[in-house]
Amino acid sequence: MSLDAVLSRIDNDLPEAMDRLLDLLRIPSISTDPAYNASCDAAAAWLVADLNSLGITTEKRETPGHPMVVGHVEGPDPHLLFYGHYDVQPVDPLDLWDNDPFDPKIEETVKGTVIRGRGSSDDKGQLMTFIEACRAWKAEHGSLPCKLTFFLEGEEESGSPSLVPFMKKNAEELNSDIALICDTGLFESKTPAIVTMLRGLLGEEITITGPNVDLHSGMYGGVAINPLRVLSRIIAALHDDQGRITVPGFYDGVPELSDEMEAQWQGLAFDHVNFLGDVGLSQPAGEQDRTPLEMIWSRPTCEVNGIWGGYTGDGFKTVLPSKAQAKISFRLVGDQDPLVIRDNFRAMVRDMLPDDCDVSFEGHGASKASMTQTSDPSFEAARKALSDEWHVPAAYVGCGGSIPIAGFFQDILGTTPMLVGFGKDDDAIHSPNEKYDVESFHKGIRSWARILAALTT
Ligand code: BES
Ligand code: ZN
Repeated sequence: MSLDAVLSRIDNDLPEAMDRLLDLLRIPSISTDPAYNASCDAAAAWLVADLNSLGITTEKRETPGHPMVVGHVEGPDPHLLFYGHYDVQPVDPLDLWDNDPFDPKIEETVKGTVIRGRGSSDDKGQLMTFIEACRAWKAEHGSLPCKLTFFLEGEEESGSPSLVPFMKKNAEELNSDIALICDTGLFESKTPAIVTMLRGLLGEEITITGPNVDLHSGMYGGVAINPLRVLSRIIAALHDDQGRITVPGFYDGVPELSDEMEAQWQGLAFDHVNFLGDVGLSQPAGEQDRTPLEMIWSRPTCEVNGIWGGYTGDGFKTVLPSKAQAKISFRLVGDQDPLVIRDNFRAMVRDMLPDDCDVSFEGHGASKASMTQTSDPSFEAARKALSDEWHVPAAYVGCGGSIPIAGFFQDILGTTPMLVGFGKDDDAIHSPNEKYDVESFHKGIRSWARILAALTT
């Protein structure tokens, strides 16, 4: 088996691989907005056609939401499953994009060549790294190195509502030895990394209603309750002045970092001054007795993602609004139970509600944190493959983001997830002008070829 031949082919075919990625990026598969349902379907169909063209028997599988893409190819053990997501985040605020988010461009920047467009990094560019590695392998060797299952989701960015029922229903089909997930990043944009800890996520939308209609704030202000003031008071009460979260029982199940992990993370020498400086900040704003890396990787958080009500258009309107709304998310760690936290949060809000106000809640996903044991020899094999490609020792790291499926692989299928990705901190995922470095794409494809070789020989 010649890995070198596969790597050379990847180098030679890079322009065509980039063209294919640009094609996929032109499909605006925003999963959270029903206006883009047909585009989500089109992105799934694009992937089905592409995988079938590689001899991987692939189908679009319907769900109550967006379709899953599932493909299989037979081969010797081990059985590897690959997961990525083809849906993307909404693009607003659109006016902050320098170009149409769905008219992707290759751009030269001072830091190198980038692929610019929504989904370039999260996660279409990343999922194509694995598919391109398979394409080069197949072209060079005529077949793939082992039994493979492809499992591509279209609802990751909107809380994966169809995922658990789909996995339960198709458990036997999706069962594999290792689930490779490409949806994370490099460490500090230069060190290859295998993520071993992901935070969970609980999303809550809250609506507080006071008067039954918007009122004149001169006529009623002072005497009538203002739901925006009520909501602001509740939100302000969610943290104490040390940055700790005040929801009752919130810290139940939050573990302290093991000595081993603490030592590992200290060895990483995370540069928080740069990390914050890159986004115009200087002060870590989380729990005051924790290090910045703990704040991102191993401590739970509560953030307000949106808050609205009353008049927010141009000019000014003296209104006392009937409703006030907010979207609030909690990142969870260890054994924190999202459903218990949801109940405790809702009870706390109800307790703080004055007479004359009502509250309603809408949940937006509830997933637990997940942690991967790296004792299986495949992890060291993959780590060596990554180190060879990037010429820097690969690190085991945490990740502040959430990828609910990692925990579901463990809990529903009993499969160990292996999280490897090539995104960089400045990729602006979920933000305007998202990009993926051509270096990430190219070396990402090469990395997967090396990992496939390492896990199958
Ligand atoms: N790819 C991200 C997860 C991620 C974020 C990895 C940051 C590395 C760094 C993933 O697509 C994502 O954004 N997930 C959502 C969760 C979802 C339930 C909405 C998240 O973390 O907010
Ligand atoms: Zn993602």
